[in-house]
Amino acid sequence: MSGTATKKSGSVEGTQRLGAAFAPALRAGDVVMLSGTLGAGKTRFVSGLAQVLSPGSRVRSPSFTLVNEIPGEPWLFHLDLYRLERERDIDSLGLEEYAERGALVVEWGERLPGAWRADALAITIDPLDGDDRAWSAQAHGARGAELLAAWCALPEAW
Ligand SMILES: Nc1ncnc2c1ncn2[C@@H]1O[C@H](COP(=O)(O)OP(=O)(O)OP(=O)(O)O)[C@@H](O)[C@H]1O
Ligand SMILES: [Mg+2]
Repeated sequence: MSGTATKKSGSVEGTQRLGAAFAPALRAGDVVMLSGTLGAGKTRFVSGLAQVLSPGSRVRSPSFTLVNEIPGEPWLFHLDLYRLERERDIDSLGLEEYAERGALVVEWGERLPGAWRADALAITIDPLDGDDRAWSAQAHGARGAELLAAWCALPEAW
């Protein structure tokens, strides 16, 4: 595998371009976990994905709606687990049905039950100085490895 798993973005727009560049790798059933502190840029990244998969859609934080359904090819199901700590509550979201219909992109994805993390791409965002962010991706399982390969093929700086 070529390239490094860590990318950098230096602005909101850079983060959105990174998301937009990664979007074509996604297909139904995929799970992308986004981890990082409040305000790291998780939602901005998802809005970059949506710019390509669902042009014209508007991505907001799903904290209150729990799941944003973004029609496209594939559909995106954008979740934010910040307020959902118990596995039981997460299970009650009906993730299986979403995964059949599209790709799951999950803020605070480290809170997903283990079975959902087993075949996924885990992206961790570290805020650096100012607007700089470091984006590190890690593969879980076979599909995670394919997604990581697509991630590694992207330019390093955004
Ligand atoms: N390089 C960058 N990428 C993304 N956002 C940035 C960047 N630099 C500064 N920001 C600012 O950081 C904030 C990121 O907000 P965003 O809602 O995407 O964070 P989040 O990780 O989803 O947070 P939360 O955990 O609260 O959902 C925005 O206010 C944005 O303007
Ligand atoms: Mg968010």
